[in-house]
Amino acid sequence: MSEQIRFDYNNVLASVVGPEHGITEGDIEKIKDKISKAVSGISTIRKEGNPGFVTLPYATDSADEIQKFADSIADKYENFVVLGIGGSALGNIALNTALNHPFNGFLSKEKRKRPRIFVMDNVDPDVFNSLFDVIDLKNTLFNVITKSGGTAETMSQFIVVRDMLKKVYGESYSEHVIATTDPEKGNLKAIAKEEGYKTFDIPQNVGGRFSVFSPVGLLSAAVTGIDVRKLLEGAKAMEERCKDESFKNNPAYMYSILHYILGIKKGKNISVMMPYSSRLKDVADWYRQLWAESLGKKKGAGFVGQTPVKALGATDQHSQVQLYAEGPNDKLIIFLGVRTFDSDVTIPKAFEDKKGVNYLCGHTMSELLHAEQKATALALTKSKRPNVTIWLDKVDENSIGQLLYMLELATAFSGFLYDIDPFNQPGVEEGKNLTYGMMGRPGYEDKKKEVEQMREADLKYVI
Ligand code: PA5
Repeated sequence: MSEQIRFDYNNVLASVVGPEHGITEGDIEKIKDKISKAVSGISTIRKEGNPGFVTLPYATDSADEIQKFADSIADKYENFVVLGIGGSALGNIALNTALNHPFNGFLSKEKRKRPRIFVMDNVDPDVFNSLFDVIDLKNTLFNVITKSGGTAETMSQFIVVRDMLKKVYGESYSEHVIATTDPEKGNLKAIAKEEGYKTFDIPQNVGGRFSVFSPVGLLSAAVTGIDVRKLLEGAKAMEERCKDESFKNNPAYMYSILHYILGIKKGKNISVMMPYSSRLKDVADWYRQLWAESLGKKKGAGFVGQTPVKALGATDQHSQVQLYAEGPNDKLIIFLGVRTFDSDVTIPKAFEDKKGVNYLCGHTMSELLHAEQKATALALTKSKRPNVTIWLDKVDENSIGQLLYMLELATAFSGFLYDIDPFNQPGVEEGKNLTYGMMGRPGYEDKKKEVEQMREADLKYVI
């Protein structure tokens, strides 16, 4: 089991990156009332268990049930396909990339032991069609996930798959579908009842982007061989650690406070998450949704939020870091570092007469990656770019549980600092409604008209 993850925020201090871009004790003192409000806001959430994401690390019975079910079907299927989008897909992808074999889909069945996973986080027809070139419906189990039970992208994916399954299995097709949805409401719940699917419930007070520790994220994880009990243990360890109300000892609260001050007072409107581990790259993608959809909000006559960006070390040193080091100083960089990799690669002796290459020989790839991470952090610090590092002892279920939970809690805490509701997403509704209008959904005729009456593009400006 891995150790506690560590949050190092030395490189955001004014004493390190200078007063214009860094934070002083005084900056924190100035918002102490806001911080107290946020601390008590989170304790109320804990007391009430609402929103319910704070209760999920303790939902071990549900995790055991999921694990048992997953173990019972793992041998029967070659493929496990998640139909979902947004919060009903990104956590699944993040867990798979972090905790399963990086080339899982290419491993032989004997080596892999568990089903391959595919997460269809879109309705791109080319990609969707291509799925059926690599899977056989006869050995595939589909998990349709939607909290609302009616998301257009997910339901389209599902209607297509249902039709295909029916052609293969007739009415018994329903044995090859699992629905993960609201326990009572929504179209998918009703369909699941009518057609007899196995279902898993998403607690009513858990929203999409906070649902990775519910059956949304846990089922596909368990089916593909991830120990979901250990994942919850990690999340629980972080929750227990973050009950410390003295915020300076609390990694989630400090993460949020530093982002808030740097955003509001120092113009750091961009939050770049840059793991130095390819296995964590989709954690950065999951975080992008969490931070953006939760905190990007209208507030009175103004607007709040930071734009989350994902990057990957060392890859993006050759793509983005020039901008981070010398472009606008409007970013806070969050490095994710891994102290110990599961394996290593030693670079063998070669090219003794080529000093410019030979220095690498005898070192390991993890040494190189660590050196690059340290060097990038130092280079950015020297050019007064604030940055923090979250250190994972290693990438395993426990550390991923800790990390994802810390980021969820930090997001909820930020909601109190910004004084907005981090659990809703009103800004995406209008786009959805206009889409419904165009697709002919009853009740959205006005929206259809609105689209039809839309001013034609002036061809003068189309080149
Ligand atoms: O975080 C959220 O609530 C959203 O991103 C949803 O997860 C996304 O819109 C999909 O919704 P649903 O699970 O209802 O299909």
